Amino acid sequence: MTDFVRNQWYVAAYGREVDRELLGRTVLGEPIVLYRTEEGSAVALADRCVHRRFPLSASRLDGDRIVCGYHGFTYDTAGACVSVPGQQRIPRTARVAAYPVVEQDSFVWVWIGDPSLADPRAVPRAPHLAADGWTTVDGMECIDAGYGLLVDNLMDLSHETYLHGGYIGTPEVAAAPISTEVDEGAGIVRVSRHMDDAECPPFYARSTGIEGRITRRQDIEYHAPCLYLLHSRVAPVGVLPGPDGDDNSAFHTEITYAITPSTHGRVYDFWAVSRDFAIEDEEVSRVLRDFNHTVVMQDVDALNLLQKALDDEPAGYQELSINIDTGGLAARRILARLAEEGARRTSGTPAVEAAAR
Ligand code: FES
Ligand SMILES: [Fe+2]
Repeated sequence: MTDFVRNQWYVAAYGREVDRELLGRTVLGEPIVLYRTEEGSAVALADRCVHRRFPLSASRLDGDRIVCGYHGFTYDTAGACVSVPGQQRIPRTARVAAYPVVEQDSFVWVWIGDPSLADPRAVPRAPHLAADGWTTVDGMECIDAGYGLLVDNLMDLSHETYLHGGYIGTPEVAAAPISTEVDEGAGIVRVSRHMDDAECPPFYARSTGIEGRITRRQDIEYHAPCLYLLHSRVAPVGVLPGPDGDDNSAFHTEITYAITPSTHGRVYDFWAVSRDFAIEDEEVSRVLRDFNHTVVMQDVDALNLLQKALDDEPAGYQELSINIDTGGLAARRILARLAEEGARRTSGTPAVEAAAR
């Protein structure tokens, strides 16, 4: 099991999910209620009434305040209780935690840890999700697996050949060697796989219209613990897409995942596919949404199954790793270090140090 990494930003929801209905999510084991004020700011509070622990997400909004659905304790946007039933005096301890929130690139990020360490500048960026000139299809699935299994899955795309054949996998993905770069200080792992002459999988044939073989680049950039970017470039064979070649002739697809641990046995898998071509074409959006949803569900089924298998196995199993696992192993190492640091850090640590991570 991969330990939780506290004192970090996590995606709790898409911005569009946070509105005037109360939304409950559990992040790193902490139940959170999300909503939007009448003026439009996203708010995240602990989702348990201080009185008898009733979920506030099952309660109601009165203006910008939540009125507990059980006995009416009322909370403002900072989590302070402003009214209790049957008495004027409000107990001093009547408040719920308020989580620091940043809304950026179509995601609502919450800070899990000591609020005094939260630095909004440290939220990693995925600008293509909301930038002009890009169109995005997206979704979110829950997986009954530890989040470490989803990190492993995304760091090693050789599984595309076997698990996602007929969608995004072709024989060349598993066959092509990878190069891995690790920025320990920034907590970023990069894994690249470049294929000069590869079959075009239906995912790209149907969205780009390319009919023959392709040059294909997959450049992963994982910002531990939550944000995963896959910069995908495809072009007809002979055109070298990417920084070393004719990037303008390539089709650019940015595949984004936010990996948000919910509980130790459950992870939120936020997924998005953004493109800078055919941006007005509804049919291309439909194809990419359907294909990626199918691919994500193949991963969901595989990880549900894998977690069950791991839960049932006797202790002491020795895992075997090979070259394709280099990125995943680097990610595990960084997560283990961040988990240790996150557990150790207290409010005595300057916020600026937290921002540098
Ligand atoms: S549990 Fe919320 S007011 Fe009683
Ligand atoms: Fe996959």
